[in-house]
Amino acid sequence: MTTDYGEVVMIQSEWFDDIRNNPHLSFLGTVAQVYILDRHNALIHWLMEVVVLQERICEVPGFEPLAALGEDGELVKIIARKQLTKLLNQVTAPLSDEIALAVSLNMGESAEWREIEIMPALRDITARMSSRVFVGEELARNEDWLQITTNYTVDAFVAINLLSVYPVNLRPYIGWLFPECRRMRNYYKRTREMIDPVMKKRDSMKQAALAAGQPAPVYNDALEWIVQESKEHNYGYDTATFQLIVSTVAINTTTDLLQSVLADLIRHPEAMQAVRDEIVHILKVDGWKKSSLYNMKLLDSALKETQRINPVFTAMRRSVEADTVLPDGTVVKKGSRIHIDTHRMVDPEVYENPEEWKGDRFSNMRSQSGKEHLAQLVTTSVDHFGFGHGNHACPGRFFAANELKIALCHLLIKYDWELAPGTPSDMFRLGFSQRANSHTKVLCRRRETVELDIDSL
Ligand code: HEM
Repeated sequence: MTTDYGEVVMIQSEWFDDIRNNPHLSFLGTVAQVYILDRHNALIHWLMEVVVLQERICEVPGFEPLAALGEDGELVKIIARKQLTKLLNQVTAPLSDEIALAVSLNMGESAEWREIEIMPALRDITARMSSRVFVGEELARNEDWLQITTNYTVDAFVAINLLSVYPVNLRPYIGWLFPECRRMRNYYKRTREMIDPVMKKRDSMKQAALAAGQPAPVYNDALEWIVQESKEHNYGYDTATFQLIVSTVAINTTTDLLQSVLADLIRHPEAMQAVRDEIVHILKVDGWKKSSLYNMKLLDSALKETQRINPVFTAMRRSVEADTVLPDGTVVKKGSRIHIDTHRMVDPEVYENPEEWKGDRFSNMRSQSGKEHLAQLVTTSVDHFGFGHGNHACPGRFFAANELKIALCHLLIKYDWELAPGTPSDMFRLGFSQRANSHTKVLCRRRETVELDIDSL
């Protein structure tokens, strides 16, 4: 097919199991390709070698973190799989504290209805909760840092669209003209300026402790993990680049699902109440434990159902890094791109009434023998590609699922919600991607009577 990414080879999901672990098919390579290829000019595709184009985009100042996704993305994967997932148990309570603050700042404390644009508010909440884990408490509450981490990706996507109409060789120079590119350069520079002193301060505290014969202080956040993992895996590391990569892969995706599920719950008030009842019941008994989040089966189900109907990618993507033979013998050449179709997520043969949002679809499935695992939000399969599937399935999904659940606990227990009259709330669809609507407005008010004071847990 000729698509907004240029030429792609579409393959059916039924073939996916044959290629899911092929080491020459990369997901992050496709992210880099977006920044590499000139989507509007097939002639340039043909004339230029991908490598040359890649060098050119790296030369657009400010884009370094995106261009580095292919290499430094490995480090993000390792940290998400290993440290972040391992730490889930310990971060539940700190995440809840951070979210309590973020929700109060964004939604206010008034019991009167007020209208807000929901996406910026949820993006701020997501940035604060991710930052708590990725850069520690000090930077997570620093307004400058929050501005960088939320806005870098937003500006990057606008800049890519602006640049992509110009010939590739001119982009490094044209890039100096657009305010978005200017801001990206500035964010990148400021990221370094903010992170370097924190790292230096930590280093000197460690050295001072060791010199005094005392154990060095331990920091359990990604700033520290990057140093450890880079040493272990022999990567050159750059904390600023790493942090902006994390912002790119983690913040918009999480915000998006948070907004979409909130909108679905607002449209289904009886489901919202059932989810609230479940949250109250579980938190009253067990408090903030990782197992409490696991037991929120209805909430898990609602999230998975929203993602089934509105996944962030409507086709899974792979860049082909060595010639690859498909199950029917077709050879897909190195440098090309494969898309795997995800129709099974809305196929009536797989899901009854697939167009209908049923909050308890997956919790019902979870109670069927043999399907307990398959029905969970974090389980991927050829019937649900919300977090991808196979070798490159999202390594941040366990963390994202927890963040989303804790955020929804606060949002649903503390506030009443309505969609603002006449507000647009349908998804933005762009080729094979879709996003929650950035113009959606909601009404919210602090609930005067709550079933449980979750801040006191
Ligand atoms: C609701 C939130 C999220 C959604 C919907 C999401 C979705 C996805 C999807 C669809 C993929 C492609 C998988 C494939 O094609 O098989 C992916 C890959 C990835 N995600 Fe996420 N993601 C989310 C949150 C996160 C977070 C919080 C992190 C990091 C902390 C993260 C890190 C990554 C990385 C590093 C990859 C590349 C994996 C690879 O190439 O092997 N994601 N994500």
